[in-house]
Amino acid sequence: MTRRPLLIVVLAAGQGTRMKSALPKVLHKIGGRTMLAHVLGLTQELAADALAVVIAPGMESVRAAALEQVPSARVCVQSEQKGTADALLAAREALARHSGDVLVLYADTPLLTAQTLKRLLAALDEGAGVAVLGFEAADATGYGRLLTQNGWLAAIREEKDTSESERAIRLCNSGVMAFRLDDLLGLLARIGNANAKGEHYLTNAVEIARADGVRTAVVIGTEDEVLGVNSRDQLAIAEAIFQKRARLKVMREGATLIAPETVWLSYDTQIGRDVVIEPNVFFGPGVTVEDEVEIRANCHIERAHIGRGARVGPFARLRPGADLGAQVHVGNFVEVKNATLAKGAKANHLSYLGDGEVGAGANIGAGTIFCNYDGFQKHRTEIGAGVFVGSNTSLVAPVKIGAGAYIGSGSVITKDVAADALALERSAQEERPGWAAKFRAMMGRRKAKAG
Ligand code: UD1
Ligand code: CA
Repeated sequence: MTRRPLLIVVLAAGQGTRMKSALPKVLHKIGGRTMLAHVLGLTQELAADALAVVIAPGMESVRAAALEQVPSARVCVQSEQKGTADALLAAREALARHSGDVLVLYADTPLLTAQTLKRLLAALDEGAGVAVLGFEAADATGYGRLLTQNGWLAAIREEKDTSESERAIRLCNSGVMAFRLDDLLGLLARIGNANAKGEHYLTNAVEIARADGVRTAVVIGTEDEVLGVNSRDQLAIAEAIFQKRARLKVMREGATLIAPETVWLSYDTQIGRDVVIEPNVFFGPGVTVEDEVEIRANCHIERAHIGRGARVGPFARLRPGADLGAQVHVGNFVEVKNATLAKGAKANHLSYLGDGEVGAGANIGAGTIFCNYDGFQKHRTEIGAGVFVGSNTSLVAPVKIGAGAYIGSGSVITKDVAADALALERSAQEERPGWAAKFRAMMGRRKAKAG
């Protein structure tokens, strides 16, 4: 079957006042990615031929975000929010230039899957002119109801316009609609606003199409997938659904999550096989974890790469640019930022490794700090292969330690150290024999006298 060209229109003009936020609703995030980006990602998965995004006046951040992800997108401004049909009409030019299927998505419905949308588009191939994604709602409050007749869709009734018997229907409109019509624009122009809200409802397209003799179909999705986010509590519900899915995916791909419900993943987290993740681990965006890695409890990891067989945590923090090679150990209370640790390097306790390089097999002692910032600029610390850095060492960047060198504990290293040298920066130890015993005796007498 030759595929017909597909235009996707994403409606994002809603102000989302119930979010109580300075940020437009669709830029709130789920799994570390904006809702808008989730929906635009779907249009990429479906390989849409054209994309239009409808925004409200002044939503420049939404425009920029859409164009960054899909540079060819056409961003249209709906000057006044007069309803979903009016919103679709804001994409008039894109619709006029297109001949093929049209899929309408809401940018506040981020959990849809491409698989479900393909089923919806398949209904068009089977002869429907209008196909609507419906779902059985546990609580139908607020949703438009789908009125069916012999398995076909007869109409969509917005809740405010329902009769009592219609209100009892649990089959609801997700808002996702697909069209294969010769004149969708003509049909949209016929949608009036004689309803309880006085808006031009896109959902009215169903009844009008039916009257024209067009077949109208319903495809059923799951309630989880079609959740619309209008408030922060719904945002949290969507996040929970997203996390459940993401955890299942990494487990199916061969990772062990001891307490999956305590592991937080991002939309792009990549986890290999035979990775074990202990409880309470948070993955921000941009993390790749190779096979056989062990991530112990309570770690925070973002924009980082963890090489095969490495061990991280408990209580480690990997910040952007942390790149751990194979078999690296990063232990408790170690923070790594914009730094590379080559194969087998170890930093097991209480360290800050920022802006630097640690060579293969190097050992970073407890309490080592890369002093990378002078209050104005960041500088690099370079540590060669096999270096031993004694505990409680400050490395004042920029500084280079040659391969195989030793750094004595407690040193403040400000100058480069040659390969295989010992660098020591601390005052000589003094010892006074018997001093402590004499001191204790004297203090004891003083205390007794004072009574
Ligand atoms: C809509 C549907 C309802 C469905 C529900 C599912 C209509 C008339 N109703 O109701 O049947 O059950 O979604 O969540 O379509 N928008 C614009 N411009 C406008 C109005 C809306 O761009 O003038 C956008 C919003 O940003 C949002 C989407 O369209 O992304 C849906 O609008 P909203 O007002 O949230 O519709 P609901 O009342 O939720
Ligand atoms: Ca909504």
